[in-house]
Amino acid sequence: MTDTYDTLLIERHEEGYAVVTLNRPEALNALNSALFADLAAFLDVVEHDDSVRCLILTGSGDKAFAAGADIKEMADQSYAQMYKANFFSHGHDRITRFRKPIIAAVNGFALGGGCELAMLCDFIVASDRAKFGQPEINLGVAPGIGGSQRLTRLVGKSKAMDMVLTARMMDAAEAERSGLASRVVPHETLMEEVRKIAAKIAGHSPLAVMANKEMVEAALETTLTQGVQFERRLFHSLFAFDDQKEGMAAFVEKRKPVFTGR
Ligand code: HXC
Repeated sequence: MTDTYDTLLIERHEEGYAVVTLNRPEALNALNSALFADLAAFLDVVEHDDSVRCLILTGSGDKAFAAGADIKEMADQSYAQMYKANFFSHGHDRITRFRKPIIAAVNGFALGGGCELAMLCDFIVASDRAKFGQPEINLGVAPGIGGSQRLTRLVGKSKAMDMVLTARMMDAAEAERSGLASRVVPHETLMEEVRKIAAKIAGHSPLAVMANKEMVEAALETTLTQGVQFERRLFHSLFAFDDQKEGMAAFVEKRKPVFTGR
């Protein structure tokens, strides 16, 4: 496996997870077309690789997860160019179709497209130095990778409006309090903590992990009645897998389960 990309560093771990590091430190990991193409290509590679059951996404350097979409790449684009390229929709859609969990380990600034990328992940673990924001209004534009929609769903209309209209940043404590980040950990131990979380997820039945992810995602797309019905049917379907038999037998026999993903 080569895992060689211009804009990403990939590190695979034998516990069943991989760390994907956004690697444009000279631009605070600003997201350009090449980076989204690399990320989409890597997701294509690992989607069907059983040795990778969870991903961690983080930023290189000590300062930023990603300071936004690359302003220098966008500055001279015309409407026709943005429209024809359907700017960043491919990267966005590829991440939303990825069926394994992605944890955002936010190690600093997550601004604009960087905050949107973190919100595209399944959950966010923030370093106590993380700063979140949608400051596009300062540039005369607006969020364009789902930020206005996901931020509003996560933190509610009032805080989302406050953030997009004033461009103010949220620190890690406020992000956790508001439901944007699931946990805050000391900056120095961020990766250690997130690796433990990824290893834990990777140790579960990969089929159950996928089903759990799919159910929670459905909650944002359906009515309560439809969502509960979807959950019930998916729950029933898990009884078709060996992993359900193994998980329950292991509990009864007071031993650790050995999941095979079948
Ligand atoms: C391109 C960027 C960048 C960005 C930082 N850099 N953010 N380059 N695009 N989004 C570059 C700087 O130009 C500089 O390069 C280097 O990274 C270091 O940044 P500094 O500004 O010198 O660092 P600092 O003073 O510490 O300030 C950090 C910062 C600031 C507060 C994060 O960089 C900042 O405000 N960045 C822009 C944040 C932003 O507006 N994001 C939203 C983008 S629009 P040089 O070569 O000068 O040293 C967006 C739209 C999404 O995301 C939707 C798209 C479809």
